[in-house]
Amino acid sequence: MKQLVIAIDGYSSCGKSTTAKAVAAALHYAYVDTGAMYRAVTLYLLEHHISFEDLAGVEQALHTLQISFRRNRRTGRNEVFLDGANREDDIRQMVISNSVSEVSVIPMVRHAMVAQQQRMGRKRGVVMDGRDIGTTVFPDAEVKVFMTADVVVRAERRQVELAQNGEQVALDDIIENLRKRDHLDSTRTESPLRRAADAVLLDTTHLVIEEQVDFVLERVSAALFTPQA
Ligand code: DC
Repeated sequence: MKQLVIAIDGYSSCGKSTTAKAVAAALHYAYVDTGAMYRAVTLYLLEHHISFEDLAGVEQALHTLQISFRRNRRTGRNEVFLDGANREDDIRQMVISNSVSEVSVIPMVRHAMVAQQQRMGRKRGVVMDGRDIGTTVFPDAEVKVFMTADVVVRAERRQVELAQNGEQVALDDIIENLRKRDHLDSTRTESPLRRAADAVLLDTTHLVIEEQVDFVLERVSAALFTPQA
């Protein structure tokens, strides 16, 4: 069967990763969480005390750091590794969420991450979630979905996720962080968050995960089984 690229873009905490993971599992495709890559770069810069304005330092860091994904056999989770160490939980902390948009705005960071993402998906058979997959990383993706949801619903979902990770954060702080990131992500000059002209819109405010997954799988069937004109 033809191997596709499935691009799932949209705002933070709309359920992109959960949906993308389930779609990848259903299709036996690889899954790439591109947000995790920007988070890993942010963690690296913070830990090495490299200022986001120090472009020579950032360039050096991008040459040095190694980001990879490994599947945890026990949990089935795809986890992010930075320089060989599992940093999955560390990259989800609020301290990273609060800085990641400042790092993902740096053109040099984007170029390095986009190049790695294109290498990861070059054999196709991949579900990738992020902000610019359908517009920049894989403009030729056969399935493109753009996800959105009410900001309060997104914040509530994020609060549950953070609590599962042992971090208690007030809802208002999360709403503020999401609004700030939405703004920075959509207004940056280098591949801003925007819906590709050929992406289908999926508002997840009133949906449960199964419905989101079914929506994407229906698009996949349509892409696989609609005869080309
Ligand atoms: O999906 P996430 O919240 O883990 O993403 C973290 C940040 O990374 C988000 O604020 C924007 C940025 N990002 C990006 O600029 N491009 C992507 N393809 C994925 C994420």
